[in-house]
Amino acid sequence: MKGIILAGGAGSRLYPLTSVVTKQLQPIYDKPMIYYPLSLLMMCGVREVLIITTEFDRPFFENLLGSGARFGVDIQFKTQAEPKGIAEAYLIGEDFLQGQDSLMVLGDNLFHGDFKPFRAAVDQQRAKKGGLKAQVFAYPVNDPERYGVVEFDKKTKEVKSIVEKPKSPQSNYAIPGLYLMDGSAASRVKAQKPSRRGELEITDLIQSYLDEGSLRVEVISRGMAWLDTGTPQSLLEASSYIAALEQRQGFKVACLEEIALRMNFINTQQLSAVIEETPNSPYKDYLKVILKEYEEE
Ligand code: DAU
Repeated sequence: MKGIILAGGAGSRLYPLTSVVTKQLQPIYDKPMIYYPLSLLMMCGVREVLIITTEFDRPFFENLLGSGARFGVDIQFKTQAEPKGIAEAYLIGEDFLQGQDSLMVLGDNLFHGDFKPFRAAVDQQRAKKGGLKAQVFAYPVNDPERYGVVEFDKKTKEVKSIVEKPKSPQSNYAIPGLYLMDGSAASRVKAQKPSRRGELEITDLIQSYLDEGSLRVEVISRGMAWLDTGTPQSLLEASSYIAALEQRQGFKVACLEEIALRMNFINTQQLSAVIEETPNSPYKDYLKVILKEYEEE
């Protein structure tokens, strides 16, 4: 299972913030935004990750994450010349994917909660039970017109179609930016035509699996938080959410070094070495505490 984080785009709704730093590197409380989607991939056991950014922003991501060795992950980078659609990620990533299954997460999507449903989906995808080739999730929101939306058949209640930003949504179930696809995704996108707005739509790719009966859509429970980061207000709210959790529990959300240790991607010696080279900071102090607790467990 390979991982992709799509982290390009213009981020124009966050201007002028995004004229200094790209959207996916904006702070969510105490970490850059991309830490959160990367933590999700890692917690699903994905260790080979391709990050797709703009050419301009690529060095900033490279400086931040490097080869991924610090987190026991192999990170590669590719650029998207223009934001020609989310599904284009499968074309840009074709060589990286080498026809394998993938879990793609949008670099501005922040999930928090029990990731068991995601891990189970990854396991199911690996097992390819019952002709299953792709999986997406459905999450209730009060503004579905801003998202890809699931439409259900009125009689059978089965999923009928996936529509991008419908003017009159038929349900309030949005599709979050987390997509499990089999190795045929790239060749499917090659057969796709750009939509009226000129993009290779992720919803059209999902629909191609739905049409042949090989798509699973799983409703995510309300216990999971899927947060928006698209506007200054939602960015602030996401930061407040993470701050409240971290203050209350004393644990960090999406601390990549901690996840790497708990997932056995790195061992305690490797974490010690990482801590040595971490600048003196509350983050370093936290890593020290985690290491100590882990050694005592
Ligand atoms: O957040 C989930 C939603 O994400 C889905 O429900 C929609 O089906 C999906 O189209 C997408 O909707 P958005 O309105 O959020 O799409 P946006 O164009 O803002 O792109 C989402 C992220 O992907 C954003 O961080 C920029 C990045 N992106 C987007 C495009 C179109 C790229 O890196 N390259 C692209 O070509």
